Order: sequence, then C-alpha cells, then structure tokens
Amino acid sequence: MGLIIKDKANIKKYSEEEVLNKVFLGDALEVLKKLPSEFVDLVFMDPPYFLQLPSKKLVRWNVKTEVSAVDDDWDKFESFKHYDIFIEELLTEVRRVMKPNATIWAISTYHSVFRIGRIMQDLDFWILSNITWVKNNPMPNWLGVRFTNATETMIWAVKDKKNKKYTYHKDLAKEFGIGKVGANVWVIPLCSGKERLKDEDGKKLHSTQKPEELLRRIILTTSNEKDVILDPVAGVGTTGYVAKALNRKFIMIEKKPKYVKGIEKRLKVKPRKNLLNKKVIKDLKEG
Ligand SMILES: C[S@@+](CC[C@H](N)C(=O)[O-])C[C@H]1O[C@@H](n2cnc3c(N)ncnc32)[C@H](O)[C@@H]1O
Repeated sequence: MGLIIKDKANIKKYSEEEVLNKVFLGDALEVLKKLPSEFVDLVFMDPPYFLQLPSKKLVRWNVKTEVSAVDDDWDKFESFKHYDIFIEELLTEVRRVMKPNATIWAISTYHSVFRIGRIMQDLDFWILSNITWVKNNPMPNWLGVRFTNATETMIWAVKDKKNKKYTYHKDLAKEFGIGKVGANVWVIPLCSGKERLKDEDGKKLHSTQKPEELLRRIILTTSNEKDVILDPVAGVGTTGYVAKALNRKFIMIEKKPKYVKGIEKRLKVKPRKNLLNKKVIKDLKEG
C-alpha cells in the first residue's frame, strides 16, 4: 500500500499496522472513529481558528495595499456553537486513540485557544503546561486598531490526570525555553523561505503552515524514538515530516486533496540539516 489512504464510507475499521506512517485523505471526524483505541503516544493538533474575518478586503492602513488574510473555507463555521461542537467531537475521538500516558499539544491564537482549553478540561484532559510561541517576524496589525499579534498559545495536556508516566525530557525543555530557567516561551520565526511549500503559481500552498522548528521542539521534548504521533488536521504535513526525520512514526489526516498532494511531495524530500541538528538553538533569527 502507498503513503496515502483515501478514506471511504464502506471501510469500517483500520488496523494499527495499516495506518502507521500513512496520510489519510478524509474527514478527521470519520477517520478517527475507525482507528483502534489507545495506540497513539503523542498528538499535535492545529485546528481551524474560526478567525471570522470581515468579508470585505483588508487594506493596510499605511500603504493602502491589500492584505492576503487567512480566509480559507476550512476556517469557516456558522457560529461559536458549531465551532465548539467540531472541536469537542475531534478531541473526544483523539482522546480515545491516545494511550493512557499519552500527551497532546493543541495550538491556536487568541480567537479560539480559550475555547479549546475549556473543552479539553471538560473532556478530562489534564493541562500540564502552556507554551507561548513568539514570532519574531509577525504580520503587523494592518488596520492599526489593535496590538500586533505576535504569539500563539500551545496547550500541553495529558490524557489522564492520574497518569504521571508521560514523556517529558526536562533538560531539553529547559534548553529550549527562554532565560536561565528555560521559561515556557519559544521564539521562532514564521515559516518562510525554502521551508514554505508553494503551489504551481509560486503562491503559499497553505496559509498557516507551521515552522518545522516548532514541531522539532515539541517532538524532542515530549516523545521518544519510534513513538506514534498523530496529527488529525495535518495541513501540509509539518508534523509527519518532522516526526519522520526524528525517527518517530506518524499518522496524519487532512481533508483537502491539494494539501495531501503537498504532503506526498514533501515526504519524499530529505530532511533539512537543521532538523537533525542536535544543538539547541534558543532565539531563532528570521530567514
Ligand atoms: C491550521 S491548518 C493546519 C496546518 C498544519 N499544522 C501545517 O503545518 O501545515 C488546519 C487544517 O485542518 C484541515 N481540516 C479542517 N477540518 C478538517 C476535518 N474535518 N478533517 C480533516 N482535516 C480538516 C484544514 O483543511 C487545514 O488544512
């Protein structure tokens, strides 16, 4: 079988062997229900943000040019209620496939991270930490009406509060954080340059591709070699690409064929040297 599994309604179950190091083209809410229980060691989840940007074009306040905003159809929901239902269904199934000592990372901006955190607590995930990702090359606030948003929050939680045997490499975690104590702030630029996947017209293939360094830190600090890492809303597959480079197994699910094609191409490329570099780089510079 190849790398991609096209999920179909008539397939009722997938075995663990069938799904390791595979990318599902399909709806996460359907695919997750067909996976076995308690076999995943680590989850990274970067769900839609539900940004609710105005339908009119955004124009930069100073130079009056148009902003290319995240207005993808995958980010649209009818209301907060619909968004919450989606997140809850996703997290419920994700929790089922996690081993009892597995942990999960959920990332988002201020638009939805508070809702995601609350839903996680209501589903009995136990929040261990949050990391603030500081982008040292953020998009300015083009309308000039509020603070430039240069951060995203990542919630790190264990499936079961009672389970203390989760994976955490404290020396590395300390190295990656800022200051002498290694506080929970990571400074990493937005994904750009050679790392950024492009479409045939040379435009960004995905509007919210995450930096490989972000996943490198997550995977190194909270998983071990050969662990199984799940990303149920994979975009262009940053999680799987970094997991493979670091000798972990991956399972990714993505509903958009154009992104799955991007993942297929990306996984054929040899990992960049900086991914395998054991040296810890603290505050990364842009570019
Ligand atoms: C914020 S992006 C993830 C970006 C990713 N972390 C990366 O680095 O490329 C969220 C992704 O979730 C996908 N998505 C949204 N709803 C989905 C669903 N029900 N099933 C599978 N994928 C879904 C979207 O198509 C989008 O690519």
